[in-house]
Amino acid sequence: MTICLVAGARPNFMKIAPLLETLKTHPDTFHPFFIHTGQHYDAVMSRVFFEDLGLPEPDVYLGVGSAGHAVQTARIMTAFEPVVEERNPALVVVAGDVNSTIACGLVAAKCGVPLAHIEAGLRSRDRRMPEEINRILTDQLSELLFTTSREAGDNLRAEGVAASHIHFTGNLMIESLIRHRSRFEQSTVVRRSSLENGAYALVTLHRPSNVDDSAMLYAFARALARISRSLPVVFPVHPRTANRIEALGLGSAFGEVRLCEPCGYIDFMALQMNAAFVITDSGGIQEETTYFGVPCLTVRGSTERPVTVSEGTNILVGADPEALVRESEKILAGDVKQGTVPELWDSGVSGRIAQVLRQWRGTGG
Ligand code: UD1
Repeated sequence: MTICLVAGARPNFMKIAPLLETLKTHPDTFHPFFIHTGQHYDAVMSRVFFEDLGLPEPDVYLGVGSAGHAVQTARIMTAFEPVVEERNPALVVVAGDVNSTIACGLVAAKCGVPLAHIEAGLRSRDRRMPEEINRILTDQLSELLFTTSREAGDNLRAEGVAASHIHFTGNLMIESLIRHRSRFEQSTVVRRSSLENGAYALVTLHRPSNVDDSAMLYAFARALARISRSLPVVFPVHPRTANRIEALGLGSAFGEVRLCEPCGYIDFMALQMNAAFVITDSGGIQEETTYFGVPCLTVRGSTERPVTVSEGTNILVGADPEALVRESEKILAGDVKQGTVPELWDSGVSGRIAQVLRQWRGTGG
């Protein structure tokens, strides 16, 4: 079975890497090939993840780069269609909720190639998020929907997806984490940054709703500056956010916050694992902190990953800088949310997906 695995943006790489590796260990059954759309292209957003995750060079690099939603999605589709036509895979696999996910999903569906979606069924119920649109549409196009939680399956059934297409196989991103955990433990990033384990906060902010609006970004900068009076605050800055900080001249509003370049996978995971708490508007980081048992303050009004709140260490603070300062102070005063690791967030996810693919092929899928 020839399978096309697609990655394009930073959060895709750690979901595709373990699946690619597992499929390659069964060359009698699977012939995977790997496409990188080039949605993310800077070394710190792409190359470093290949090195850290041991990902092979992509079989095809589409090199689409940055643009507005319509142009970027269209460029990916235009570049991906000839690849599908030429290679005629039995299945296209996309992950997550970025523009590369929906663009390649649409091409597969229109070429009549079955589509599998990794991380299906997540819903924030906020259609102002471009990712929510990408999630809903990709799921509608998919024949195999691999979920990370039981709730995600409930969401899909409520939208009319047949139960036989939904496979609760667990969290591939957590499989990556487990595979590489010993290397996070060996990382010297905490020491190199003159930090101490458990005695700093880690920040990531890149949602357009938080960083594109100048008043909102300024308010977050001031809130983080206040928090940095109590403990060191490290903020690896996403290029979208860096561009906004520069354009608005907001650097000094961050006070003592340590703004730095985005980190590679191993160093970023080491920073997460050893933080006192994490402040984020990312999706995946809500899950990784839950796995590590590190408190997470999510500065968004909704989450597509509610299991991280109901079972994990995540607290939804809202897009509210004042509430962020209050919740940070609670953690610093010792009021720390405890959590458990959700079901099937383990090292067997890619093996379960491979098993589903075998059965699917056996039934003539
Ligand atoms: C994308 C995803 C988002 C994901 C995030 C992770 C969509 C709609 N959004 O958002 O869900 O959480 O990736 O990082 O797909 N840029 C660079 N270098 C790069 C990539 C981007 O400088 O390698 C800059 C460009 O100015 C670009 C901007 O960042 O215009 C935004 O990049 P884009 O891929 O459009 O969206 P993200 O904000 O990265």
